[in-house]
Amino acid sequence: MKHPNRLSQLINTNGLQHAGYLAVAKTRAKVLKAFSYVVPIRRPMLFVGETSCEELCDMLINEGNAHVFIVTDAVLNKLGIPAKVTDYLDEKNIRYHIYDGITPDPTFAVVKEGLRQSVAAKCDSIIAIGGGSVIDAAKMIAMAQGNKCQPEQLIGLLKAKKPSVPLYCIPTTAGTGSEATLGAVVSDDKTHQKALSIDPRMVPLAAAIDPAIMQGMPSHITADTGIDVLTHALEAWMSANASVETDYYAASAVKSVMQYLPLAYQDGGNLKARKEMGVAAHYGGIAFNKAGLGYVHAIAHQLGAYYGIPHGRANAIVLPYVLDVNRQASKKRLAKLAKQTGMIRQGNAGNSDAEIADHLIAQVRDLIASLHIDPTVKGMQSSDFDDIAKAAAKEVSDTYAVPTYLSPAEIKDILTKIKHASEQHIGAAG
Ligand SMILES: [Fe+2]
Repeated sequence: MKHPNRLSQLINTNGLQHAGYLAVAKTRAKVLKAFSYVVPIRRPMLFVGETSCEELCDMLINEGNAHVFIVTDAVLNKLGIPAKVTDYLDEKNIRYHIYDGITPDPTFAVVKEGLRQSVAAKCDSIIAIGGGSVIDAAKMIAMAQGNKCQPEQLIGLLKAKKPSVPLYCIPTTAGTGSEATLGAVVSDDKTHQKALSIDPRMVPLAAAIDPAIMQGMPSHITADTGIDVLTHALEAWMSANASVETDYYAASAVKSVMQYLPLAYQDGGNLKARKEMGVAAHYGGIAFNKAGLGYVHAIAHQLGAYYGIPHGRANAIVLPYVLDVNRQASKKRLAKLAKQTGMIRQGNAGNSDAEIADHLIAQVRDLIASLHIDPTVKGMQSSDFDDIAKAAAKEVSDTYAVPTYLSPAEIKDILTKIKHASEQHIGAAG
């Protein structure tokens, strides 16, 4: 089993050192909040509906672009998904070049090959058609081409000196919200360690939420990615860096997921549900762009790195436990969210914040159960938990402004519960 984050071992979070860790983490959270106020973050122009792809292409053409680099993956290309865009570009006599080499968790080699092809074809704009991996890779290609540099030089905060090549995104899943965010993740070719590039200039110019493109998504992917949306929204809502603005997007996303994810899961052809989930994913992205995420993502990233659990499913596995540990610190905020989104028992609006928060958490558990998301984490070993807890604690301290900071023992307690639930599920199935 690979151990993805040795840097985390530099953190010792016992005793007095834990107090030091908390001080550093809280200071970083304040710096991130100041960053989000000082550095303006652009919003993509948003087109929604079954003609949104054409509207996005019209914008690209009206802005004077004449040779488009289309970034996608081989599966989507084989299914003919880019045709909706390429047929329209043909109609408008706009040239294009398709690169379908994006893989899940794209590496620098994958991004560099896209960059090479875009530069060689002298493309002046990029359309990404795909899920989070495709959009992240397209962001890196666009930024590297715009800055005439290699993708590795963009890793870190505000590394670009010039704007990216004009970037337009058509998400095919309702999950990451990457078409709204200022970051992109690329994996190292050998170690598969993930590297992050953050720059407001990475936010795409426009995004098209086309429910017809999303209707082919299999139900288990709909479930996993939908819970990713819910997690973005809930973590942004509970963040110490939440604002009036991020609350609006987070609450809207939570309401849509609770209402429309079960419908999109049961009937992939329900275009209304697909559209609402696509917009919810976008709103979730806007919310966490500024407010950040929390322990669900920090632990889920490790479940992905150690045990290969897909991102959305890992979130679904971790989310209820983190809601439980956040309950005390976040009960007032969760009660407010429940009231805004209608997640309260009828006639029980007068209950205490703790009771209302408990009811919201119960509904999140019920939603996850209704989507039949597999809680199995194969190969999970208690001997990994020290390293996982340290890596998750480091991710939180480096990046997020959580409502309550957990000790390594508390993180390991969550991991133990996940392991037990996984073993129970395997036992019940066997
Ligand atoms: Fe996520």
